[in-house]
Amino acid sequence: MKKVRKAVLPVAGLGTRFLPATKAIPKEMLTVVDKPLIQYAVEECAASGIEHVIFVTGRHKSAIEDHFDLAPELESFLEQKGKSEQARLVREISNGLRFSYTRQSEALGLGHAVLCAADLVGEEPFAVLLPDVIAESRVPATRELAEIYEATGLGVIHVEHVPRERVHLYGIIDAEVEKKSRWGDKVLRVRNLVEKPSAEKAPSNWAVTGRYLLPPEIFDDLRTARPGAIGEIQLTDGLCRLAKKGKLLACVYDGKIYDAGDKLGFLEATVQLGLKDPKLGENFRKYLRGLKL
Ligand code: UTP
Repeated sequence: MKKVRKAVLPVAGLGTRFLPATKAIPKEMLTVVDKPLIQYAVEECAASGIEHVIFVTGRHKSAIEDHFDLAPELESFLEQKGKSEQARLVREISNGLRFSYTRQSEALGLGHAVLCAADLVGEEPFAVLLPDVIAESRVPATRELAEIYEATGLGVIHVEHVPRERVHLYGIIDAEVEKKSRWGDKVLRVRNLVEKPSAEKAPSNWAVTGRYLLPPEIFDDLRTARPGAIGEIQLTDGLCRLAKKGKLLACVYDGKIYDAGDKLGFLEATVQLGLKDPKLGENFRKYLRGLKL
C-alpha cells in the first residue's frame, strides 16, 4: 500500500460564523492561546509523518501563506535583541514540511475545495484536515488514519459519539462493526453518510469529526457529483460514493475534538488549551476559580 505523504488543508471558506472578525482575517488565522488554528493542523500533519501540505486558499487568505513562509528579517531582529526563544518559535513554524498552494476561486463547498487539490495530490492517498477542528490525542489523529489506510488500502474517517439532540449539526454515518478487523470494534464499515440529519432520521450517533484519509479515486467521485441545493459540492457526496462501493471505513476517535469553527467550540478550545499550557495554565486556573459565576 502506498505510504501517506500528502495532506490537503482547505482554507478557502468565508468564515461567516465569525464575522466581523473574519472580514479581513482568515478564520484559520484566529488564535487559540498563542497559535493560529491553522498551525495546530500543520503540527498534526508533521507529527503524523506527512511531508507535503497542500493548502486550498482563496481571496483574502494571504496571511496563511505568509505565516508558513520564512521570515529571515524577523528572525535576525529577534536574535539581535537576544530573543532566541522567540526566534526559534518563528523558525519552527514550518516544521520542515513542504507547502503548496492552489486556489478555489469561489467557495463552492468542501468537496469542491478538495477537488481543487487533485493535480497537486496526483495518484496518491492523502489526508484532509479541517483546520477549524483541533484534534487532541496521544496518537495524532491523522497518523492513526494513515496507519489504517496503509494496512487496508481503504478510505477512512474519524467519527465520535454525539448525543441525539446534536446529530443535526454533523455528518452522521450509517455503519456496522468491521468483521475480523485487527482493530476490534474501533473500526466500522461505512454503508452511507447523511449530512445534518434530524434526530429521528439519523442512522446512528456517530458524527464525522473533520479528519479524513482518502484514496485518489475520490476525485472521480467528486468530479461527477452534482452540486446540491445551495450550489455546493460536499465532501459527503464523494464519501457516500466510496461507501456504496464498500471502500470506506470509520475509526472511532478516542481523543478530544474542539470544533473551533463554532463560537462556543472556539471558547471551549481556548479555555481547555489555556489550562493545559505549561506557562499559563496555573495562573489561568486560579483566575477561573476566582470567577463569581
Ligand atoms: P466550514 O464550513 O467550517 O468553513 O468549512 P466556512 O464555510 O469558512 O465557515 P462558515 O460556516 O461560513 O462560518 C470547513 C473548512 O473548509 C474550508 C473552510 O475554509 C474551513 O477551513 N472550505 C469550506 C473551503 O475551503 N471551501 C469551501 O467552499 C468551504
